[in-house]
Amino acid sequence: MRAFRLRETGLAPDLTEDPLPEPGPGEIRLRIAACALNFADLLMIQGRYQERPPLPLTLGMEVAGIVDALGEGVSGPAPGTRVAAFGSCGGLAEFGCWPAGRCLPLPDSVSFRDAAAFQIAYGTGHLALDHRARLQPGERLLVTGAAGGVGLAAVEIGRRMGAHVIATARGEERLAVARAAGAHEAIDSETEDLKGVLKALGGIDVTYDTVGGAGFDAALRASRPEGRLLAIGFAGGDVPQVPANLLLVKNLSVIGLYWGGYMTFAPQVLIRSLETLLGWLADGSLRPHVSHELPLERAAEGLELLRTRQATGKVVITP
Ligand SMILES: NC(=O)c1ccc[n+]([C@@H]2O[C@H](COP(=O)([O-])OP(=O)(O)OC[C@H]3O[C@@H](n4cnc5c(N)ncnc54)[C@H](OP(=O)(O)O)[C@@H]3O)[C@@H](O)[C@H]2O)c1
Repeated sequence: MRAFRLRETGLAPDLTEDPLPEPGPGEIRLRIAACALNFADLLMIQGRYQERPPLPLTLGMEVAGIVDALGEGVSGPAPGTRVAAFGSCGGLAEFGCWPAGRCLPLPDSVSFRDAAAFQIAYGTGHLALDHRARLQPGERLLVTGAAGGVGLAAVEIGRRMGAHVIATARGEERLAVARAAGAHEAIDSETEDLKGVLKALGGIDVTYDTVGGAGFDAALRASRPEGRLLAIGFAGGDVPQVPANLLLVKNLSVIGLYWGGYMTFAPQVLIRSLETLLGWLADGSLRPHVSHELPLERAAEGLELLRTRQATGKVVITP
């Protein structure tokens, strides 16, 4: 089978021929139908991701496909079932094996493409906004990097939770994507004075920051009393430093959220959240935006679209 492999950090991954993987005890083998790309794939290639799985590895962290074979001790889902699988690499290939407990059967109405594109982005948005920041209807939510995969999902979830959503992105085309996903206000992160505009809009209650750097600082200074700032990612490269005196004076909280961490310390929280989101996908209240869908042999091009900030929402690879 074909697999998109990273042999060494710092080197470009490439397509190789691998033997068909055999599911180990407790595992399920999937015939992969779709795998979404993530900023984390870029970090992993550079050796800058927070987790360092052994190399060589097949990239691709969120997957949808058909159950193809069951390992020892696994009674289901039965071969032929359509599932979403999450929690490890290996998705950019024709087949792959996942622990049975990380394979969720898909409602008929959810496509493979949407099932691959929703897991990490929407999972992160839902755990952060609902479980961690306790976003309330009517609160003002700022989402930075709102045209990216994780940002755009947070716009949609925030809107669904009844928040007034303020999005930042670079340029009118990308802002239009955020508006279409439900943002009430859209601010150009390159040309507008974020702190000034946020203050003029009346301040913010919850910040969902995927970019880091100056945007986080502007959000901190434009936060209302009892504001919560979610540190989600640092796509811009600068990790914000937080002056604790501001937190004290303004009664603010800074909240870290690492979706993948829940797989280790509270998997049930993560699975319940994914089940809720699958329900929202099935009833049509979430609509993942996929700007590019490419075959496996163009996976490198898909990663380049992310790296150069040309993608909006998700890039999905279909083996
Ligand atoms: N905490 C968690 O559990 C979790 C889960 C998933 C992802 N993340 C993190 O969230 C961030 C976004 O991930 P993603 O998958 O949504 O990535 P993405 O689709 O590539 O989106 C990132 C967005 O950040 C903006 N950006 C600003 N400066 C950038 C720069 N120097 N390079 C690239 N993008 C830049 C871009 O929008 P503009 O061009 O419009 O500015 C881009 O749309 C990453 O830092 C990722 O590691 C965290």
